Amino acid sequence: MSIGSALPHDAAPLHVTGSARYVDDIPLPAGALHLAFGLSTIAHGDITALDLSAVRAADGVVAVYSADDFDEVPDCSPSAHDEPLLATGRVHYLGQQVFLVVATSHLAARKAARLAVVEYAPLPAILTVDDALAADARFEDGPVVWSKGDADTAITAAPHQIEGEMEVGGQEHFYLEGQVAAAIPQEGGDMLIHSSTQHPTEIQHKVAHALHRPMHAVRVETRRMGGGFGGKESQGNALAIACAIAADRLGRPCKMRYDRDDDMMITGKRHDLRIRYRAGFDASGRVTGVAFTHLFRCGWALDLSIPVADRAMLHSDNCYHLTDVRLESHRLRTNTQSATAFRGFGGPQGMIGIERVMDHIAFDLGLEPLAVRRANFYGGMQDSAAAAPAARAKPVAKSVDVEEGEDLTSRGAVGMVEYGEIPPPPANVQNTPFHMPVEDFIGDKMVARLEETSDYTRRKAEIAKWNAKSPILKRGIALTPVKFGISFTLTHLNQAGALVHVYQDGSIQLNHGGTEMGQGLFQKVAQVAAGVFGVGMDAVKITATDTAKVPNTSATAASSGSDLNGMAARAACVTIRDRMAAFLAQRHQAAPEDVQFAHGRVVIGTADYSFAEAAALAYGGRVSLSSTGFYATPKITWDRIKGSGRPFLYFAYGAAVTEVVIDTLTGENRILRADLLHDTGASLNPALDIGQVEGAYVQGAGWLTMEELVWDTKGALRTHAPSTYKIPACSDRPPVFNVALWSRPNREDTVGRSKAVGEPPFMLGISALMALSDAVAACGDGTRYPALDAPATPERVLAAVQRQRDV
Ligand code: MTE
Ligand code: MOS
Repeated sequence: MSIGSALPHDAAPLHVTGSARYVDDIPLPAGALHLAFGLSTIAHGDITALDLSAVRAADGVVAVYSADDFDEVPDCSPSAHDEPLLATGRVHYLGQQVFLVVATSHLAARKAARLAVVEYAPLPAILTVDDALAADARFEDGPVVWSKGDADTAITAAPHQIEGEMEVGGQEHFYLEGQVAAAIPQEGGDMLIHSSTQHPTEIQHKVAHALHRPMHAVRVETRRMGGGFGGKESQGNALAIACAIAADRLGRPCKMRYDRDDDMMITGKRHDLRIRYRAGFDASGRVTGVAFTHLFRCGWALDLSIPVADRAMLHSDNCYHLTDVRLESHRLRTNTQSATAFRGFGGPQGMIGIERVMDHIAFDLGLEPLAVRRANFYGGMQDSAAAAPAARAKPVAKSVDVEEGEDLTSRGAVGMVEYGEIPPPPANVQNTPFHMPVEDFIGDKMVARLEETSDYTRRKAEIAKWNAKSPILKRGIALTPVKFGISFTLTHLNQAGALVHVYQDGSIQLNHGGTEMGQGLFQKVAQVAAGVFGVGMDAVKITATDTAKVPNTSATAASSGSDLNGMAARAACVTIRDRMAAFLAQRHQAAPEDVQFAHGRVVIGTADYSFAEAAALAYGGRVSLSSTGFYATPKITWDRIKGSGRPFLYFAYGAAVTEVVIDTLTGENRILRADLLHDTGASLNPALDIGQVEGAYVQGAGWLTMEELVWDTKGALRTHAPSTYKIPACSDRPPVFNVALWSRPNREDTVGRSKAVGEPPFMLGISALMALSDAVAACGDGTRYPALDAPATPERVLAAVQRQRDV
């Protein structure tokens, strides 16, 4: 059985030999043209003159388009029809696309784009949270408010209170492969698009709309992305539409690839925000009431800001049972890039608020932060009567029958894998702030395990002693947990399709709607397919995602790729296997259940066929060996206006301990050691999962420590290249990095009882910020909370140290 095997990424040999094909590697037919956008040079204003004559006259230029060349400028937005492909009279951010150049080479297009003469009548630019609040510039009529119980009363009545504010920076995706698309005109006006996208169906939909053609006239193919991280859920639309329009008008293949600087100037990033918090608590640190205000800077267009900001609210509890809580979320409109999806999709921004509150409370009371976190875990205090929703779902204990994965092997040096019983449902099921019962809480158990394996308590004491003797360098340590909800909060997106063919030689072609961006989805789904047919992995052909094979797909996002597509592929494979079994059973006068598919063989009593022989027989017997499969996630319901329901099928958990050191003279800081324990359910592939956990942690820590986006007062992003925007390098990987999987079957009936893993471990990186806070606190006398903003760059750490010493 291949489910659970620690197989390498299917394209690993291609990646390391440079032969994996990305969009830019696809040979284009002769006569192909290359595109570049001309960009706005101001943040807000009206275009008063647009002289493109020099652009048109430049070497190699074939065509130039501006909004004037369209009766209706095509829209690129995934949500609101508010993103014209080219600015229509007014520009809304510095970097917005104003015109499109089509030339014989990439370089010629880019060079020509610089020759435009554009005049603007500038308008006041809203750049910051404060600007937006002052102008009441926002995407909805007012803030979204969800609550449970009565936070204000509870906070006021509590024996202790804290309040504070925190700035949390955004993040550039920095996928290694930038945004890119190619359009190849087909006969009869049809269009073939190659796109580096997490969402081929969206590209198909937007291109069809732009060309005024039905969706059946547009086919989108995505073999792989060189990383997406959420940045290719919607941000590829503009390139695909531009290529399709030019290809359609000129009848020639067109390709567009953003240069790195353009990519960073044009595309949206993770939302930055300001978080305000107030909390009331008792002497043990138990929170009795808490209120959060999120002030999200969404940029100029709506994009995915509403579901992102919602997900932040949905993660403002993390692992803690909050009885009385009020969440207020502002989605502010600014003249900057339109902020978009990024790993965690708002979850990290919500979770960091409550982790900050835990840290602040512990500091205030002089308690061990882990003790305060424990005092608040789900499983403790019950909701007050006021908090109970009218119809509270009764927890149901589910019966679970899970076969032990045969090949669930350890990765030895880098990680251990455990596989055990499904724990009994907790005695005390409690509700989230959005009234969903938390039936599967294991955060307490995982934290207990990690506390032990990381030697947290002893190291913490040792660090205190070390700090006492070290005036310049200070160390810090923190343990933070993660609970992340799995499912799209837009309920209808929780569906997937697959198309599987078994050929007469027994080889299998696997198609599904998921996209591959490095996360290993294709390999996992192929393992599922091989498992159903009982064949080796080499029998299964992994194919490019293709809207002609599987229609109406959701983005590969919300970490749900393997949950959704794995189930859809399994359904298709089971249909074909059952047909083969029925046919062979009849032939051998046996029952279909007696036909066994395993180890590449199909066995019925004494008859023993290779899978290929069985396929050939079924073909000869006129049995259909092709099937679609479909899956829709069960159980979920969600009312986002009320903020109530069950938006998630289940939660994925994790915990991390990070130890850091800071230099109090310069603020420089470094992670010394990280210990991670992450919940993967019964892992479909522990090798890929460990890769996801490691990568996500490093990316999460990068977000909170070194990745800083800086806009100047004119709204220009000054950090638009690797020279000024620093992502973690190999040398920033913690020198001691212990990663283990908590590999126990999912309580819910997911594919192989696994859990989604793409995003949840990103938030393990929060422990790095809390460890830095601990190190800064060691510079003071315990009277002033460090209140570190993120990213905790050397400058911010130094300022925080200074504040400690100024007390
Ligand atoms: N891992 C790699 N290597 N590259 C990526 O772009 N994207 C992340 C995560 N892991 C990403 C990644 C994001 S944002 C998501 S939502 C999931 O993968 C999507 O894939 P999955 O649903 O198959 O986990
Ligand atoms: Mo991931 S942010 O859901 O693409």
